[in-house]
Amino acid sequence: MKVDDIKRICVVGAGTMGSQIAQQCALSGYDVVLNDVNDELLAKSIAGNRAILTRRVDKGTMTKEELEAALGRVAPISDLEKAAGEADFVFEAIYENRQAKRELFGKLDEICPPHTILASNSSTMVISSLVEGIKRKDKAANTHFFHPVLVMKLVEVVKGQWTSEETAQICYELAKRIGRTPIMIHKEITSFVVNRILAKLSQEAFWLAENGYATPRDIDTAVKLGLGHPMGPFELADFSGLDILYNARQQRYKETGEEWVKPSQLLIDLVQAGHLGRKTGKGFYDYEKK
Ligand SMILES: NC(=O)c1ccc[n+]([C@@H]2O[C@H](COP(=O)([O-])OP(=O)(O)OC[C@H]3O[C@@H](n4cnc5c(N)ncnc54)[C@H](O)[C@@H]3O)[C@@H](O)[C@H]2O)c1
Repeated sequence: MKVDDIKRICVVGAGTMGSQIAQQCALSGYDVVLNDVNDELLAKSIAGNRAILTRRVDKGTMTKEELEAALGRVAPISDLEKAAGEADFVFEAIYENRQAKRELFGKLDEICPPHTILASNSSTMVISSLVEGIKRKDKAANTHFFHPVLVMKLVEVVKGQWTSEETAQICYELAKRIGRTPIMIHKEITSFVVNRILAKLSQEAFWLAENGYATPRDIDTAVKLGLGHPMGPFELADFSGLDILYNARQQRYKETGEEWVKPSQLLIDLVQAGHLGRKTGKGFYDYEKK
């Protein structure tokens, strides 16, 4: 198969990531089927995409006709068999739960035509740990997008232990076709490149704050002005959700036993108090005051 043979894309999981992966593909002219467990979630996802694209129309960067055409290319279908039955390429973007992902890949292996490529958007789990039980192991890879997908250009394409060169190249080319910038990770490693680097940076930032060397606000200022990052590690943690960060660290600790990756007490205290960042109005910063 070649990237030109991809006509129909299916995205499974219409949450934060899947909704926008589907929309980004449609904006690039692909016919996309978006799947989730029920029609209400799909309707919410489509409404969210409409709201985002409407802002582009308001700013004059997109016409109303382009908006309707791009939304019209995403078909919401809650029946997985109908959604994935004719797909040439499937992006998996369901919860970060290994068992759920493994079951889904098993079903997709049964439902999809033999040529279909299956790609996971997991933030941490390598593809070989998700597709052990399926037949088309060579046609599976990680394609890791960043939040928010409609804005963030990077896609990490990760070649798993069974991924064929052809599959990896098709994932890479498809990412380019949908207006993203891929990087190729040639050997699979949990959490890939960006999140591994970020984890080290943010763990150091947490350690400095926890031990009273500097406040989270000053550390954020230092990272922004001294390293040129657009956000400091604490701002970014609030933006992504402290529960997400906590779970990612727990998961990686469980998998690797690396002591340094354990969630810091500062993070545990905030999560236990229900302060999860922007989405709850409070995290390292207080968003309700603004
Ligand atoms: N949120 C982020 O910043 C981010 C960034 C990069 C990667 N990721 C990864 O992307 C994936 C999705 O994350 P998210 O933040 O979009 O999650 P989310 O919770 O917003 O959405 C997950 C969606 O999957 C649906 N779902 C669950 N099981 C399903 C099934 N069997 N079939 C169909 N739909 C199902 C849920 O109903 C939900 O709508 C995860 O693997 C996550 O690690 C997340």
